[in-house]
Amino acid sequence: MTSNLFWHHQDVPKKARQLLHGHKSFIIWFTGLSGSGKSTIANRLDRALYRHNISTYILDGDNIRMGLNKDLSFKQEDREENIRRVGEVARLFVDAGIVVLATFVSPFRKDREFVRKLVNKDEFIEVYVKCNFDTLKARDPKGLYEKALKGEIKNFTGISDPYEHPENPEIIVDTTMMTPNICVKQIMNYLYNNGYLKK
Ligand code: ADX
Repeated sequence: MTSNLFWHHQDVPKKARQLLHGHKSFIIWFTGLSGSGKSTIANRLDRALYRHNISTYILDGDNIRMGLNKDLSFKQEDREENIRRVGEVARLFVDAGIVVLATFVSPFRKDREFVRKLVNKDEFIEVYVKCNFDTLKARDPKGLYEKALKGEIKNFTGISDPYEHPENPEIIVDTTMMTPNICVKQIMNYLYNNGYLKK
């Protein structure tokens, strides 16, 4: 399919774009069950980074599924395609010198590993947003657990569909006990201590 295509070199390289922005570009990939707090934490982190003059953009599962990926369902192959497309978009943002905050349930390890491999080793930070199941059910901000438990939503991650937790994530935040602000602090500390942000 790609045999008649030719890669066009761009004169302005990623390094030059990063210099323009004044920081590295990379993906912070939030994975975890629906309602675990991915979007809330990513939004607060986004605000903190914005205040530090970092150019960022959030790619959010629900939002992307209302536009770019509105043709996709929650069957395994569609979830795979969802993550493949978003991974490619995230890679473009990294190339443009921007820090991407991606919040996707992304339940399958191989799909997350696919995205990790799209960029350089230090350009992918996996954040596992962990939360105890009883807390998720009690929170249920979108009412989806209630529906899924009644069998009204099929293939619901954590109930009728699997979630493969990350084996070696760069960061784990447990929202069962920790507030979103504490989680953001934990991630900011990681970014400072690992040379992603200048002190
Ligand atoms: S992913 O599995 O393909 O990565 P994604 O993050 O894009 O999922 O979308 C998940 C969001 O879609 C959830 O936060 C929830 O609001 C909604 N949703 C609707 N149906 C499902 C389902 N069957 N499983 C998980 N989330 C669902």
